[in-house]
Amino acid sequence: MGRVIAIDGPSGAGKSTVSKLIAERLGFEFLDTGALYRAAALHLRRKGLDENNTDDDIKRALNGISVFFKEGRVYLKENSELYPGEDVSEAIRTTEAGHYASVFSARKAVRDFLFQVQRDAAIRSDIVAEGRDMTTVVFPDAWKKFYLDASEEGRAKRRYLQLKEKGIEITMEEALRDVRERDERDSKRDIAPLKKADDAVCIDTTDLSLNEVIEKILKAIGDRR
Ligand code: DC
Repeated sequence: MGRVIAIDGPSGAGKSTVSKLIAERLGFEFLDTGALYRAAALHLRRKGLDENNTDDDIKRALNGISVFFKEGRVYLKENSELYPGEDVSEAIRTTEAGHYASVFSARKAVRDFLFQVQRDAAIRSDIVAEGRDMTTVVFPDAWKKFYLDASEEGRAKRRYLQLKEKGIEITMEEALRDVRERDERDSKRDIAPLKKADDAVCIDTTDLSLNEVIEKILKAIGDRR
């Protein structure tokens, strides 16, 4: 098992950008677990499933597919299909995919399905893993743990700018509503809810620049370069 830097926090706290840069700086692999949940949700939606389906329906729909990363891209693949599967890296970034990722991630069948994929990523290399339950459920034994937070408005603004940059139409009001809905769902669910681990270092990113957040994390890790 490699070293794991586990980073959790709510939607829009800046986890992905920060985690990617920390991974690059330290020569670790970056594991964006939200992307795995988004890809699984995309597959379930394509199969016509929604929040009204049972766990058994979900399990059946996920049976025989793989979700994985290759060279920084996310793939969905029917196991019966020949390599390489479908690159869904763009398709998972819509607001709808984010919404359903949050909806389906509350379901045990989905969490069980992705658990091993995430654990396996740490067998092969040192990783920076970011998500909602990295520090609590998937890597409770992580080498270093962080919880990134920011004000609701700050997170909505970040979400808004990220989506705008990708050419996705959204208003600030919609971004704020999306952040609130996701906070509610991701932190109130029964299984693996978003919460700060007792032993995680908490960083509020609201008034910090990206560089300041990176510096704080590297300092906590003990990197002096
Ligand atoms: O980080 P993100 O916005 O890409 O995540 C999409 C959704 O996936 C998020 O609303 C909750 C879910 N998720 C989760 O439940 N557990 C994780 N480790 C990562 C994401």
